[in-house]
Amino acid sequence: MKKSGETIFVCSNCGNEFNKWMGQCPACREWNSLKEMTGLKSRTGGPKRRTGKVEVINLGKMGKESQKIENVFGTEIGEFDRVLGKGIVRGQVILFAGEPGIGKSTLTTQLLGKIGGLYVAGEESAEQVGMRVKRLGLRGEKIDILETNDIESMILAWERAKDVYKVVVVDSIQVMATGNNPASPGSPMQIRESAFGIIEAAKRLGVAVIIVGHVTKEGEIAGPKLLEHMVDTVLYFEGDKNSDLRILRVTKNRFGPTDEIGIFKMTDSGLVDVRSDEINLVDSKTAKVGSAVTVIMEGTRPMMVEIQALVTESFGAMPKRVFSGIDYNRGQLLVAVGQKVLGMPLYKCDVFISVTGGMRVEDTGADLAVVGAMYSSFKEKALAGKRVWVGEVSLLGEVKKVRGWERRVKEAKGLGREVVTINSIRELKETI
Ligand code: TYD
Ligand code: MG
Repeated sequence: MKKSGETIFVCSNCGNEFNKWMGQCPACREWNSLKEMTGLKSRTGGPKRRTGKVEVINLGKMGKESQKIENVFGTEIGEFDRVLGKGIVRGQVILFAGEPGIGKSTLTTQLLGKIGGLYVAGEESAEQVGMRVKRLGLRGEKIDILETNDIESMILAWERAKDVYKVVVVDSIQVMATGNNPASPGSPMQIRESAFGIIEAAKRLGVAVIIVGHVTKEGEIAGPKLLEHMVDTVLYFEGDKNSDLRILRVTKNRFGPTDEIGIFKMTDSGLVDVRSDEINLVDSKTAKVGSAVTVIMEGTRPMMVEIQALVTESFGAMPKRVFSGIDYNRGQLLVAVGQKVLGMPLYKCDVFISVTGGMRVEDTGADLAVVGAMYSSFKEKALAGKRVWVGEVSLLGEVKKVRGWERRVKEAKGLGREVVTINSIRELKETI
């Protein structure tokens, strides 16, 4: 245990503490993430041990008790509930992370406008939040606003209003500070201390809290990564700034699934739920050179997307590999398989791959489309039209069926297309 005033080094990625500087954090293996902190109380030395009343609770009895209280409640935003499982659980602490300007304040304001609650405005003034509420066409009566960035004052407000707020939004953790700690707001230490305070109060008072956190590129300000292991649920809100599509993703969830996504569209009057068949990520049915359409599964939801590839002769010593929306290593592997099995001389070609609509594809079912798009670009011929390319590509170039097959086929049919069934990427040659 370190004494107060001592210098310690805190990892801005995972928040672990060390008493000497190291180039790589031994805990999370991040490089150059250790920051020197002086004059701070170590977390382990804090006064927050839970002592006092010691009571053993019988689970059977607790079940009956807790049925009385409304323990899980819907958010009245369909896509939000879908991502969380059923809805929000009493005392649940949710980290809601995303890049600045992506729409975190918008969505959380909309949520409060529907179910009511407290909005802790650390970044904006009450007027600014009020203006947003108006713009979103929400009823202001349901939303209380607290203008503060002080954790203790905020918790005092929760305590005074005990049982009034089901949900509290803290916007954002980067500007909040606790009096227990002199570190400046936004520093890893302060973010962690503030979050500890919030979580402790949330559990004690049974209020669900949504902590808004900005994801920033590596730098002085700690990303919400630091908080991920402390909270119950981690949501990421993402999307391409140039497109109005926003994806809500859950990466950790103590109370529900972690594979569902929610899809929203940013409009002039806020974020609206989007059904997958309304998103037109594939713009035409005519076949194009360098393009292959596929159906990916996002949780239990099939979604049609277009993969585009550009394969051009390289004039550099190192051919370029620029992939957006697909995993870099997966892309490399598919380039290698394409070279070996289809005989494309990709070692002397630049390869660019992108997914339309700024989608991030983690589904290996898109492999065939990636290879197909590369082959089409290389051959400068379009793949057969109205087709959908689904399948995982093995190292040998075999095409394997993937999970959710029936649903993908149905989705493709519904959109007037047909899923191609081939056993090896060699067969791509016959479709061109
Ligand atoms: P915001 O929710 O403030 O982002 P964050 O809190 O994640 O930083 O959203 C900011 C952007 O959203 C801004 O560019 C304006 C746009 N926007 C709309 O397009 N429609 C709306 O109804 C609102 C409120 C914002
Ligand atoms: Mg904001």
